Amino acid sequence: MPNLAVVGAQWGDEGKGKVVDLLADRFQVVARYQGGPNAGHTVVVDGTRRALRHIPSGVFRPGTRVVMGNGMVLDLDKLLLEIDEVEAAGFPLGGRFFLSDRAHVILPPMAQLDALAEASPDRKIGTTQRGIGPTYEAKASRQGVRVADLADLDVLRGKVERIVQGPIGRRLREGGMDPGEPGALARAAFDAGRKLAPHVADTSLLLNRWMDEGASVLFEGAQGTMLDLDHGSYPYVTSSSTTAAGLCAGLGVAPTRVHGILGVSKAYATRVGAGPMPSELDDGPDGVGERLRQRGREYGTVTGRPRRCGWFDAVATAYATRLNRFDGVCVTLLDVLDAFEEIRVCVAYTVGEGGRRLDSVPASLAEAEACRPVYETLPGWRTDTTGVRRWEDLPANARAYLDFLGATIGAEVAVVGVGPDRTQSIVRPGSWLARTFGV
Ligand code: IMP
Repeated sequence: MPNLAVVGAQWGDEGKGKVVDLLADRFQVVARYQGGPNAGHTVVVDGTRRALRHIPSGVFRPGTRVVMGNGMVLDLDKLLLEIDEVEAAGFPLGGRFFLSDRAHVILPPMAQLDALAEASPDRKIGTTQRGIGPTYEAKASRQGVRVADLADLDVLRGKVERIVQGPIGRRLREGGMDPGEPGALARAAFDAGRKLAPHVADTSLLLNRWMDEGASVLFEGAQGTMLDLDHGSYPYVTSSSTTAAGLCAGLGVAPTRVHGILGVSKAYATRVGAGPMPSELDDGPDGVGERLRQRGREYGTVTGRPRRCGWFDAVATAYATRLNRFDGVCVTLLDVLDAFEEIRVCVAYTVGEGGRRLDSVPASLAEAEACRPVYETLPGWRTDTTGVRRWEDLPANARAYLDFLGATIGAEVAVVGVGPDRTQSIVRPGSWLARTFGV
């Protein structure tokens, strides 16, 4: 069986967790390649809503092996808690959960620094304050602590000392914060490392060996393309490579091992944190933005923040299609639009006095912030779709909407979600996904 990547096509929170959970039983392995506890993947299993931070969403399929790759950053205490929660829910991890020895560790000073930076108005990104940026910063400046370092207390202490005495500690002290005592920080990380040790492995070696033996792997992205460090709305981005390209570096897997790429997008748009969002609808308590938020329960899984909501941005999603070369797209939360008489899609932007038209996402932040949406309006379907289970039973206007999205973003809509449950996903018969992966 071929290997498949599942990647966010918008600003994160597209519902990737649910899609991965849906597809996971077709794959022997699910592997996550970037980010850390900034992600909040939600999966509904047998009516129970389960939120994951680090662990790949395939974990709720008992026979599936799950891998956390070298491209990830880990909060050790939160990860241990998450492991306990997953196991307590009846999904034992022994022998099927593998953590890269090259993944980086989020130490408490890194989370403190994230919070400190967010407290300063000129540096505010609206991060999840989980220490993601400072940990990737330490990695890039070759100061980071890796999972392999957790096995040796002396090595660990030396590295933690350099962090506390280096730029991270210095910035904290300048901001009036105490980075903590290196010995105690190292000890706590060492103790957590001992608990995680049974799961630690050279995961690139394992993945490649399993693939050589015929296993198929689902590569699970976190966040979304518009939050990618290189291609997102910089500096309002996360600090990792969220596109499909990131999976090769983040797992130690060659590009030729990736046989298909599924983009995941909501049927409308949401964003948490600051940064440009041309189709945002900030139109008051009775406006469309608030209706989308209420109907879609659009509050952050990690931070509980209300998400910014707006119409589908086909410019941004077409940009994501180009960067990831999606073979197909899964459109989630279609049912949220069931109530609307008219549905709009942002098909271009205009900027400046003369309304210069842009058909792609600009690099300049000032230009991106000045973008105004150009909409096309489509008729709604005003029908409850949550009970629909076959593509052909979707209302004609809903199918027309999905076809319009596919045409404007340049990728076929292969799956649609009409509710949070596993059963509420409909695969388009004859689509690339159905043909290639037998879904
Ligand atoms: P960080 O990843 O915590 O550094 O946050 C950087 C930006 O990415 C902020 O705008 C966050 O709101 C956003 N972000 C990070 N993780 C997620 C996610 O899983 N879903 C949606 N937005 C996210």
